[in-house]
Amino acid sequence: MTTVRPSNVQPRADLATLPSYVPGRSIPGAIKLASNEVPAGPLPSVAKAIAEAALQVHRYPDTGAGELTARLAAKLGVPEAQIAIGCGSVSLCQQLIQATCTERDEVVFGWRSFEAYPIVTHVVGAKQVRVPLTSDHALDLDAMLAAITPQTRLVFVCSPNNPTGTLVRKAELDRFLAAVPSNVLVVLDEAYFEFVTDPDAPDGIDHVRERDNIAVLRTFSKAYGLAGLRVGYCVASEEIAAAVRKVCLPFSVNHLAQAAAIASLDAEEELFERVHEIKGERVRVRDELIAAGYDVPETQANFVWLPLGEHTAAFNEHCLEHKVVVRAFVGDGARVTIGTPEENDIFLAAAKSFSR
Ligand SMILES: Cc1ncc(COP(=O)(O)O)c(C=O)c1O
Repeated sequence: MTTVRPSNVQPRADLATLPSYVPGRSIPGAIKLASNEVPAGPLPSVAKAIAEAALQVHRYPDTGAGELTARLAAKLGVPEAQIAIGCGSVSLCQQLIQATCTERDEVVFGWRSFEAYPIVTHVVGAKQVRVPLTSDHALDLDAMLAAITPQTRLVFVCSPNNPTGTLVRKAELDRFLAAVPSNVLVVLDEAYFEFVTDPDAPDGIDHVRERDNIAVLRTFSKAYGLAGLRVGYCVASEEIAAAVRKVCLPFSVNHLAQAAAIASLDAEEELFERVHEIKGERVRVRDELIAAGYDVPETQANFVWLPLGEHTAAFNEHCLEHKVVVRAFVGDGARVTIGTPEENDIFLAAAKSFSR
């Protein structure tokens, strides 16, 4: 029997109120539509690059991720100095706050949005300012602008927004950026950028060329299918990118991740065929849900949002009974990742048999 010894070493008291990040659940035998992953495994060319890179794991990785940085710089048409690679874009969210905020500062974000924003803000001790979404489940940029105070150092704009899938359109973003004070960093989180089809969508990189107070986040976890390897990137002014690199945990972007990301850039055409299929399935799933009587906001990501309110927990249970794992935010709604057509059919059958 183990006995718990009392410890004199106490963690920071304020961490008691810090919610833990809740990952999507994996249940053996069930279909996982809970983490916005893509359903297909790595392409043979990417698996080969990972296997080859595995032979080098007795060496530390290139902590500056030089080759990947050079590839991204060429692809995006920005200087290498404006790019910071991170151990997933979630790490870059934290690094951006560490690089810009202290406990005297405020961080503004829409709510509900990506679950990690409150956590990474709290860890640094900065104050969270959550701005409710519009009745259409979209970010309310006017209200977010109004929430900026002299203490605000950073604003997260998640587009498409996780978990609602809604997009901030170009004109709206232009207006917002023009009005945000120049000493406030806008972090445009484009984790789902490759799934966007709306012709009025902005491309964050264009804005980085125009102004110093915007940082764009992208990831290899979603459309590129490398969630398990942890690699994302930030494009910002040279000064911000350098600060983000400074607070990076050394060697946290491992060698396999770097090799797989480069191989995925080489295989973009093939990977984006898969993304194209997901975009088609996203339309089908949403249309069928709407026909079944659900309210589903228009989504530009690889998931749909069902604002089920008080019915969310029951919906979650019902889906589990049908061996489908969705991501439930109890009292608010359920986020469901687009899977393969067969997986989507099983989910749709579950959704259609749910009685509210
Ligand atoms: C909006 C958003 N940003 C960032 C991330 C983090 O992605 P990763 O750390 O895997 O790059 C996620 C993951 O779900 C996300 O939804």
